[in-house]
Amino acid sequence: MSDKPMLVLGMMSGTSADGIDIALARISGAPPHLNAKLLGHASVKFPAAVRKEILRVAEQQPITAGALSQLNFRLGELFAEAAVAACRKFRVSPKRISLIGSHGQTIFHQGHPIPFFGSSTASTLQIGEAALIAARTGITTVGDFRPADIALGGQGAPLVPYADYLLYRHDKFGRVSLNLGGIANITVLPRACKPPQVFAFDTGPANMLIDALVAHFTRGRRRFDENARLASQGRRLPALLDDLLHDPYLKLAPPKSTGREYYGHAYLKKILVLGRRHRAKPNDLIRAATIFTALSVVDALNRFVLRKTKIQQLIVSGGGAHNPLILAQLSAALPGIEVLPSSRLGVPEDAKEAFAFALLAYETFHRRPANLPSATGARGAAVVGKISYAPPR
Ligand SMILES: Nc1ncnc2c1ncn2[C@@H]1O[C@H](COP(=O)(O)OP(=O)(O)O)[C@@H](O)[C@H]1O
Ligand SMILES: [Mg+2]
Repeated sequence: MSDKPMLVLGMMSGTSADGIDIALARISGAPPHLNAKLLGHASVKFPAAVRKEILRVAEQQPITAGALSQLNFRLGELFAEAAVAACRKFRVSPKRISLIGSHGQTIFHQGHPIPFFGSSTASTLQIGEAALIAARTGITTVGDFRPADIALGGQGAPLVPYADYLLYRHDKFGRVSLNLGGIANITVLPRACKPPQVFAFDTGPANMLIDALVAHFTRGRRRFDENARLASQGRRLPALLDDLLHDPYLKLAPPKSTGREYYGHAYLKKILVLGRRHRAKPNDLIRAATIFTALSVVDALNRFVLRKTKIQQLIVSGGGAHNPLILAQLSAALPGIEVLPSSRLGVPEDAKEAFAFALLAYETFHRRPANLPSATGARGAAVVGKISYAPPR
């Protein structure tokens, strides 16, 4: 059964909540001989009011149970519409698609247990109701990928390393896969590694601080610093950068994960205070945040990776891979390591994570585990996700 290729759609919206990325993949076989080819990708923006509400909720602002329930179904509709629009763009009838993997939108993630009503509790919540996606598209949909790993004592994240392992593991090169979404995360793939040698963690912010500063200084007229245009006009302020690099998150030993709870609004306020102290102009601060982003990745590599693992290539994906200043800083600060946008290896930067969730859904459909306990800290293997079957035709 697994020899017959399947068309699978992967859908993802990350912490930037800029919109839904959709990847169409043709997948066949089973690991270690799994074949996956990316056939196309598309992006659909969220309506502005919905995005605003997602960001508000993800910042842990109050929401009633009723409004949360409504938001879950509304996002399900938007993901379903995005899937249908993408099929039209790819000129593939939804009937030919066997499966959807939809990560959904994370609005809360507490990977390690914290006290809660007298007992330690970890939890995670991705919304965008999968039953609705299955009903609207007629395609069986896997959603809710993270809870099964948390149920085994893992952090429920990161899950993309399984796909990184399948896509990028190399017999001759040590590689690191870096995704620059709202948050930056790396998967370390030592030369000729086996799954237990793969490790992964969030290194710190990616676009989240830059986006927040740009939105703040332009009063919401711009959402991000396209091609680092604003940062390039800023001055270098080494003392300010130095203050930023004292961020305690960077020193925390992995496994670790972070998000909007830490690098969201509160952090923006902190940077604005620092900016005033160093007499930084808006573009100076945007520049500092951009360079801090790149150097926080470099810091993580130097501190936790390069001492024990030889790395030849850094493969960069996510929206931040389009930021020339981030890429230039990475190259400059990592001599001897080739910095490659993921498109050079056949996976467009904006499709990588959606592609990963197509792969994860395929594995779930075949009842194979797709968490890497070495990356999440889980006690063992988990078949991740929950299946919402398409209504009978
Ligand atoms: N041309 C570009 N120049 C600079 N930054 C970009 C560019 N294109 C995208 N980005 C950044 O990438 C972000 C989106 O990245 P994405 O990978 O979708 O993150 P997430 O997974 O968190 O949704 C945008 O918010 C923006 O900051
Ligand atoms: Mg995005």
